[in-house]
Amino acid sequence: MSFTIHTSISAAVYENENVKPRDERRKALLGVRGLRKHHGERLLFDIERIEIATHGAYVLTGVNGAGKSTLLRVLGGLERAEIDSLRFEGQDVLRVHPYPRALRKAIVYVHQHPILFSTSVPHNIGYGLELRRLHKDEIAGRVEAAMAWAGVTHLRDSDPAKLSGGEKQRVALARAKVLQPRLLLLDEPTANLDGQAREQVIELIPTLVEAGSSVVIACHDRDLIGLPGVQRFKLRDGRLEIR
Ligand SMILES: Nc1ncnc2c1ncn2[C@@H]1O[C@H](COP(=O)(O)OP(=O)(O)OP(=O)(O)O)[C@@H](O)[C@H]1O
Ligand SMILES: [Mg+2]
Repeated sequence: MSFTIHTSISAAVYENENVKPRDERRKALLGVRGLRKHHGERLLFDIERIEIATHGAYVLTGVNGAGKSTLLRVLGGLERAEIDSLRFEGQDVLRVHPYPRALRKAIVYVHQHPILFSTSVPHNIGYGLELRRLHKDEIAGRVEAAMAWAGVTHLRDSDPAKLSGGEKQRVALARAKVLQPRLLLLDEPTANLDGQAREQVIELIPTLVEAGSSVVIACHDRDLIGLPGVQRFKLRDGRLEIR
């Protein structure tokens, strides 16, 4: 499935992140030291340190095959790697395989090619909240807000299978946003889009940060790379350059 929904329960711990005081900003959200990924004998990357700040926005660039998607999946806890140490919100995470529940809940990965359930657009967006056992009225309210945010309200009754690439991507972003993640990992969200569809997705990105998430975007898109306040990571020859 394109989008990882984790089955953690209880009300969101981070419900009020968007009203976090300013001095809370720029604190380290996620810090990983000594991160290595092998495929068999091949060392894909060897990263000394990667730090994601609270409310931080980052792009991750690198040539095809550099390991961008793999790095996002590792940071999302979806793929194993060798990790010397990992801190999340100031706490050492001792067991990283699998990620503890709090991390699974806090970090959401959005695949480059979102796959939607064939049910309906609102069901796709609300499904993760159902798994978290939120009250159905709460789910309905959050889904409405997310559809409005993503500009997909008019697609409420559309067949998810028949949406365009840009519409699917916006539904996938809404599906991630309703979970109010602390960290969103977006894998090439504009790669298959052009024109207005691409611009609509780019416009949503800063609002995710404003709403309280840190965002890491794997991409080649110059307009995403050029968004104000975005820091750049580049994977080159297995090393992470921080720009
Ligand atoms: N399970 C696997 N076994 C062996 N090699 C793999 C496996 N998964 C990925 N790779 C290799 O790891 C490398 C990095 O792949 P990855 O998809 O992370 O790159 P990427 O930077 O996202 O590329 P792109 O820009 O094309 O999306 C590629 O050479 C890929 O073939
Ligand atoms: Mg990739």
